[in-house]
Amino acid sequence: MTSGQLGNVVPDALDLFDSAHRLDPYPGYGRLRDTPGRAAVRLGDTEVTLLSRYADCAAVLQSPAWGHGNADRLSPFWDQETSLPGSFIRMDPPDHRRLRALVNKAFSARMVADLAPMITRLVDSLVDHAIAAGGLDVVRDLSAPLALAMVGQRLLGVPARDADLLRAWELAIARGTDPEPLLSAEEIAGRDEAGAGVVGYLADLVRRRRAEPRDDLLSRLIAVEEAGDALSAPEVIGICVLLLIAGMETSINLVGNGVRALLAHPDQLELLRRRPELTGSAVEEILRYDTPTQFTMRVALTDTTVGGRAFRRGDGVIVLMASAGRDAAVFAEPDRLDLTRYAEPGRSPRHLGFSLGAHYCLGAPLARLEASTAIGTLVRRAPGLRLATDEPVSYQPSIIHRGPRSLPVELTTTAA
Ligand code: HEM
Repeated sequence: MTSGQLGNVVPDALDLFDSAHRLDPYPGYGRLRDTPGRAAVRLGDTEVTLLSRYADCAAVLQSPAWGHGNADRLSPFWDQETSLPGSFIRMDPPDHRRLRALVNKAFSARMVADLAPMITRLVDSLVDHAIAAGGLDVVRDLSAPLALAMVGQRLLGVPARDADLLRAWELAIARGTDPEPLLSAEEIAGRDEAGAGVVGYLADLVRRRRAEPRDDLLSRLIAVEEAGDALSAPEVIGICVLLLIAGMETSINLVGNGVRALLAHPDQLELLRRRPELTGSAVEEILRYDTPTQFTMRVALTDTTVGGRAFRRGDGVIVLMASAGRDAAVFAEPDRLDLTRYAEPGRSPRHLGFSLGAHYCLGAPLARLEASTAIGTLVRRAPGLRLATDEPVSYQPSIIHRGPRSLPVELTTTAA
């Protein structure tokens, strides 16, 4: 599909397919925020509104007037029939509440804290290996193996030998989460094939865990299913697929975007090296400055207004959290990477990188822990961290998920 098919309504509204946009979407978001009219894009035979300002994005994410409209098949963004049953990221209450509450139990602060030593050990060993080799690809050799080990092995209990298979499925499905009318026929076919592959694989894994439970989230979800009618077998599989996509692609991209931002801002990299206690604040700043989940989608469940503009039931909006993070109405010097921005509570408004409201990211504590360990360890252990290529960074094809395909860096234990 080409950009010509998008048919922007407001001149200069976002062309999501422009390769310049993919490389650096932020100037386009800035133009959108400055556009006085309604910015819209055509999706198939409907038009959906682009929300680019922080106040509008935050209002929609927190309002019960907006959701996904599954029950009435309202969504212009995807075909509800092909949605997996347990994928509650696209559900409204009451189903959303029921499934989210069940999974939420498994994401207790304690469970995440218990994972901390394992994350530290794994990151240390990946970085040891890379230092001995003189460099690594941040995506291939650090963030992807970390996310696969956490979500794939630790949460879902997938054996390490199947990591490559899982990564290939995850990438094809992540690409397929973009609004359906924006995907090519091959991408839809690739997503559906990967979906069928992963569902078959997980169904088999569920059978094995049912016979022989282990200490993983999958076994706990099966126990809930067996205890009564709280979860059906297809729901267990749907939740696993959701965790795979929501939990892997995003975490991989946060580390990639973070390291890339630091390399592009040597003063900030140096600051983090001198003040490692800023690592937590740095992760929050990256979630504001160049967030892995660029946007989400919502449908008006009832007639409503946003920022003084009327919407009818069934109208769709694209909520550009990445643009909200650069809104000068809310953030001081929004285009500046400032690792101290979140160093003190209340100094800067919260970013929308993990969304807000009912669908607020369930894995946020785990994502923060993974990213701060990976980025913190790289910066601390390799003062000579620098990009190992002059080639421009190439990004994943998805427009929802933003992150480099590959990020080769040199690592030396002495300053460059
Ligand atoms: C940097 C990493 C991450 C980012 C940027 C991120 C971002 C998000 C965002 C923006 C949403 C809300 C989407 C919406 O409102 O439509 C979300 C929801 C969700 N995330 Fe994350 N996420 C990350 C990591 C994780 C991890 C590690 C997990 C689990 C292993 C996870 C599990 C989920 C789940 C289950 C939901 C659905 C919540 C619901 O619909 O109620 N995420 N995430």
